[in-house]
Amino acid sequence: MKVLVIGGAGYIGSHAVYELIRDNHEVVVMDNLSTGDETFIPKGVKFYFGDITKREDLSKIFETECAIKPFDVVMHFAAKLIVPESMSKPLEYYHNNVEGVRLMLEVMTEHNIKNVVFSSTAAVYGNPVKTLCEEDDITIPVNPYGASKLASENMIKWVCNAYKMNYCIFRYFNVAGADKSLEIGLKKDNLTHLIPITVQTALGIRDKMIVFGDDYDTVDGTCVRDYIHVSDLAHAHVLGAKYILNNNESVLLNLGSNEGYSVKQIIDEVSKYAKVNYEVGPRREGDPASLIASNTKAKEILGWIPQNGLSDIIKSDMEYRKKISNE
Ligand SMILES: NC(=O)c1ccc[n+]([C@@H]2O[C@H](COP(=O)([O-])OP(=O)(O)OC[C@H]3O[C@@H](n4cnc5c(N)ncnc54)[C@H](O)[C@@H]3O)[C@@H](O)[C@H]2O)c1
Repeated sequence: MKVLVIGGAGYIGSHAVYELIRDNHEVVVMDNLSTGDETFIPKGVKFYFGDITKREDLSKIFETECAIKPFDVVMHFAAKLIVPESMSKPLEYYHNNVEGVRLMLEVMTEHNIKNVVFSSTAAVYGNPVKTLCEEDDITIPVNPYGASKLASENMIKWVCNAYKMNYCIFRYFNVAGADKSLEIGLKKDNLTHLIPITVQTALGIRDKMIVFGDDYDTVDGTCVRDYIHVSDLAHAHVLGAKYILNNNESVLLNLGSNEGYSVKQIIDEVSKYAKVNYEVGPRREGDPASLIASNTKAKEILGWIPQNGLSDIIKSDMEYRKKISNE
């Protein structure tokens, strides 16, 4: 396959690029490097610096590349994704996340490119109605980030219907870990994800961490979530792209692990390496007690089976954080 990866210099997009290359596909990356890192793009991969909200940037790539060989698939990772920021800057989120997708689809239709793989999120479900989240559960996002992703999902569905295209929409839950090469990983200044924060605390990069509430109706009172290794997630994108291309049909799938762990269970697992100092603080608004993705559909349709369990994910994040702290 020849694949355009938009947002391929970011955390998840770069892991998709690595998995595509390992599976011998031709990859072209587009990224505006707003949160991405150019060093995450492997040598030999063609990189276009460009912004998906600028039509001329997209047209240039499609005109140049499709004259050589049309893309079989376009993968979209190019979003803004910080929930509190989306609450204060909703227009920026709609512009980047929704207008960016609209322009991408417009340019794809002009060049007769038929297959799109899109990164969506558990945030489209809003406050979940049940613990094990399934794809046909009701979607009522509770922040502009989730709303912008749901608007994009719907636009993709309508456009694919009208232009006889195929989509693979993935809704991710909690993603962590790093590629086995340790060349790429989650490298951000203001980390918000539980596993990297816990690992940073164990490594002494943070003095302590806060556990937001321990009076939920869960196994030990702390919130329960499911976790997925970023390389397993990236591998699903290769399978999803092949599936829509070969079967000429669309799919919408959760990507998660089907298994929940509490915040304290994560801390216990990380504590096997080093002590984790934490304090229990008040609950955070909008945190459901328990949220776990059902991944039955992804397993059935794509034959996707996550290879890494919780201890692998934590070990991988720990190795990556140790490596970058020495750089
Ligand atoms: N990280 C998670 O836990 C998580 C969970 C659910 C869904 N997602 C989705 O996964 C996707 C990737 O997330 P990530 O964690 O890799 O984020 P990231 O910020 O690391 O990656 C996003 C990439 O897109 C680029 N980008 C952003 N806007 C762009 C634009 N207008 N034009 C060109 N490039 C642009 C950024 O520079 C960056 O390289 C997003 O769509 C996000 O909504 C992520």
